[in-house]
Amino acid sequence: MTPVRFPRDFVWGAATSAFQVEGATKEDGRGVSVWDTFAATPGNVRDGDTGDPGADQYHRFEQDIELMRELGLESYRFSVAWPRVQPTGAGRPNLKGLDYYKRLVDGLVGAGIRPMVTLFHWDLPQALQDEGGWENRETAYRFAEYAEIMYDALHVRDWLTINEPKTVVDCGYRTGIHAPGVRDDDRALVACHHLLLAHGLASRVLHDRHPGRRIGPALNLHPTYPADDSPEAKEAARRQDARENRLYLEPVFNGTYPEEAMTRHDMIMDGDMEIISEKVDVLGVQYYTPLFIDAEQRRVVRHPVRVAGWLEDYPDGLHDVLLRVTRDHPGVPIVITENGLATDDAVSPDGGVHDEDRIDYLRGHIGAMHRAVKAGAKVEGYHVWSLLDNFEWAEGYSQRFGIVHVDYETQKRIPKDSALWYRDLIETGELR
Ligand code: NOJ
Repeated sequence: MTPVRFPRDFVWGAATSAFQVEGATKEDGRGVSVWDTFAATPGNVRDGDTGDPGADQYHRFEQDIELMRELGLESYRFSVAWPRVQPTGAGRPNLKGLDYYKRLVDGLVGAGIRPMVTLFHWDLPQALQDEGGWENRETAYRFAEYAEIMYDALHVRDWLTINEPKTVVDCGYRTGIHAPGVRDDDRALVACHHLLLAHGLASRVLHDRHPGRRIGPALNLHPTYPADDSPEAKEAARRQDARENRLYLEPVFNGTYPEEAMTRHDMIMDGDMEIISEKVDVLGVQYYTPLFIDAEQRRVVRHPVRVAGWLEDYPDGLHDVLLRVTRDHPGVPIVITENGLATDDAVSPDGGVHDEDRIDYLRGHIGAMHRAVKAGAKVEGYHVWSLLDNFEWAEGYSQRFGIVHVDYETQKRIPKDSALWYRDLIETGELR
């Protein structure tokens, strides 16, 4: 077999988000976020887990940067906790919060690692939620102000606006398994529109103030396939696709909503669609799982993994989704901003963490990405989710996505076998 080789300038990285790894939720003037509130309510998060201690990155970022350097990482995608910078989501910045991210960026750059900054990875300031959160149009304008503070504070080229708007809409507003825990399809669409408006407004601010930098959304795309050959299953998969993917891709790239997925319009104001379709300089693609849909519009799980019920091991899905984006929205540079596997792996008596199934998952998906690149997809880089084991939202600390194991008692980090495998891939550019 010919070896799978990546070009030298392909960028290899890892990703995290603030609420999932920082801990220190009450320090240095950080305000309360919707996830603090949500996790504090019994029944919402498995085992009553909260954002503390997380992986305590707020106190250990220097050590984590050193670890990234040892692994040879070339990019680190992290998010800013909005409530650290603006504790109530508005007004003058909290300098201590801002300073943390400045030091983080300086440390990364000093270690030769490119920062990629996500502005919103779900930890909305609770004070804004009290005013209606994403159902309130004002939140989108507050977001653009916060973005401007960050652009001016951090000398970073690559930015991401909203992480997985779909997950906020579907889990935060439809099923309610995420903060803010709303269960209402109609309200979900209002939140959806305002999240996308926030994306567009913040993109405009960057383009106006810092030409030469790049920005885009981080979209989780779910390739949908009919579970069988019946016309009914094909139609059901098509409908599902509108809800999963087109509801986000089309407004952002074309300035239109797929009518069948956006069934409410009263919150859409004149000019909004132009704002939402502000130029995308770089598209963050996050891929975990395909969706096989049967004639009754139900999901059929065909390639289950052991730990996370929603996740199927199906590398072809990544290949297909990359080519679909390339076909429908040609020319846009793509960065894989997340891809990874949850396990419940533990430290072995020999001191190592032998996560063979994660290596298999990554090898399969990176291989599929390579095939897509050969077929014309413009993929610049890849970020494994995640650098560290961390707070997996409603699953708390029970699901471990890290390539580095975290002992939450001692905060000791142990690179898993997958991290060592990834280090070799980065070093050689060759997939083995
Ligand atoms: C997507 C989210 O952005 C991230 O926060 C989450 O931990 C991973 N998927 C895994 O579920």
